[in-house]
Amino acid sequence: MKNILRGLNVYLIGMMGSGKTTVGELLAKKIHYRFLDTDAIIEKITHKTINQIFAQEGESSFRTLESNILKEVSAYIRTVIATGGGIIMSQDNWSHLRDGMIIWLDVPVDVLVKRLANDDTRPLLHQEDLTAKLTDLREKRESLYQQADIILNISDQDTPEDIVEKLLREIPFHVKPEFNPDLN
Ligand code: S3P
Repeated sequence: MKNILRGLNVYLIGMMGSGKTTVGELLAKKIHYRFLDTDAIIEKITHKTINQIFAQEGESSFRTLESNILKEVSAYIRTVIATGGGIIMSQDNWSHLRDGMIIWLDVPVDVLVKRLANDDTRPLLHQEDLTAKLTDLREKRESLYQQADIILNISDQDTPEDIVEKLLREIPFHVKPEFNPDLN
């Protein structure tokens, strides 16, 4: 797999709670890649939680940080990168995502609701009706998530291991020839 990807970064995109970090860590291990998480980097460099950044500086400041981090990590090679769910909203971010292979972990809203019911780390979900909020966010973002190279439909039953197995089967079919001359 390392040879097939030839160092190409892998970006995991998708809604909050879709498992980007868990799946990303596991995938990175399997393909002997480094793993990075844009939210974790932001928290580390600011010494603040995502909640604190949203509350003290606002969402637009968070989005600027997110774009800057994406730009920096896109200079790496052999890295699996778990992104924040909203990273796809900026057109500029796509130019960096497009340097790698983009995978959308598509998890139905009802599954996300179950996973996020007791979560208080996501500032955008601090409101009463979780289903309505996630449905709304998904509707706004779906057409962008669909621009991924690989779309993986995930069910409640799929374990992170299952998901990684599926990805390992899918990835070779989606390596663009310009990244892998052997496939020409
Ligand atoms: C966000 C998703 C979060 C985090 C922030 C905003 C979003 O990341 O970046 O709370 O806009 O969907 P996860 O997708 O890792 O939860």
